[in-house]
Amino acid sequence: MASEQQIFDGTQEESSNPPSQSMHELEALTDKTILSHQDEAKIASTEFENIQKRYQDLIAKLPHAEGWFEKAPFIGYGGHWIIEPLLAGCLHAQDFFQARPDDFFICSYPKSGTTWLKALAFSIVNRSRFDDSSNPLLKRNPHELVPFIEIEFAFFPQVDVLKDEGNTLFSTHMPHGLLPESISNSGCKMVYIWRDPKYTFISMWTFFQKQKFGSGPLNSLEECFDMFCLGLSGYGPYLDHVMSYWKAYQENPNKILFLKYETMRGDPLPYVKRLAEFMGYGFTAEEEEKGVVEKVVNLCSFETLKNLEANKGEKYREDIPLNAYQNSAYFRKGKVGDWQTNLTPEMAARIDGLMEEKFKGTGFLEHFYAT
Ligand code: A3P
Repeated sequence: MASEQQIFDGTQEESSNPPSQSMHELEALTDKTILSHQDEAKIASTEFENIQKRYQDLIAKLPHAEGWFEKAPFIGYGGHWIIEPLLAGCLHAQDFFQARPDDFFICSYPKSGTTWLKALAFSIVNRSRFDDSSNPLLKRNPHELVPFIEIEFAFFPQVDVLKDEGNTLFSTHMPHGLLPESISNSGCKMVYIWRDPKYTFISMWTFFQKQKFGSGPLNSLEECFDMFCLGLSGYGPYLDHVMSYWKAYQENPNKILFLKYETMRGDPLPYVKRLAEFMGYGFTAEEEEKGVVEKVVNLCSFETLKNLEANKGEKYREDIPLNAYQNSAYFRKGKVGDWQTNLTPEMAARIDGLMEEKFKGTGFLEHFYAT
């Protein structure tokens, strides 16, 4: 069994170390044709099945580790652990997603504030297209409006947002090192949101309890917490995920906006203005005077979105056939500071310690915790 430190450093024994060479192996297997966003939809279904078969063959050769769910092992790829269908989606995105210079990417580790950022980005970009009553966010879950490149793009090219040539908003949970090359080559901008690992973990474990089918029983909170600390979580190690974007941000601060969930939750307005500016959709003085920024903040707030009909009760999104989660699962508590409900002080100290150790000397802690 690898030690905690070994897993976080990526220096554990080969049998449990997510490999980083597999991308090259895959390159030899796949066609590197450059396609536009929508060309993916034109891949004939037999070709799609052949491509998926090649991914499955590759995945079968990669290291497997026990997952949080009995029937959903983690597959080691590129230094990270990803469950099988999502890894196939990542491979597909790497091969076929063709970013354009004006595209904008919402990047995050799962359960760190993705849904909120999708809603904000959508509202910012589309604020002149819709009035207070016609905004699609009032009727649809934010995930329907901003597609994941490794989910909708890879598996559900029929969704309307992907048919809309004018759409420039995309999202991904892929770590920075696994992003499709076209994203860095085309110089697109991206925003990365991160969250205190205690809440990311709690949010993830409680979210998984709401899964409606497929993966068998979920491990206990204590077992999953241990795995999370060892780096074994979907798209994990979590801290390596954050680090991958932090390094990219340091190399190219003009291209990545780095946000922290807790800070934004405390006072969203300045961050929403900064996000809009960064996206090239800054609010004008007149808009500010008219309260347009507040309107965006309010429309996208946890309280507003959670209480919309579309996000309440047992509703599922209707544009894709298989939904593991009801829309309401994406809105739980949205709170900061209540880790004591789920974690012991020892668990909190363990994860805080790992965080400190990981980021010591990188400037990250000073950047987010100073003052
Ligand atoms: P909790 O589980 O702590 O409540 P993601 O969108 O990446 O899946 O992250 C989910 C977390 O963001 C959940 O946290 C969820 O409640 C919270 N969330 C969802 N929409 C939000 C919003 N509009 N504002 C703030 N937090 C939101």
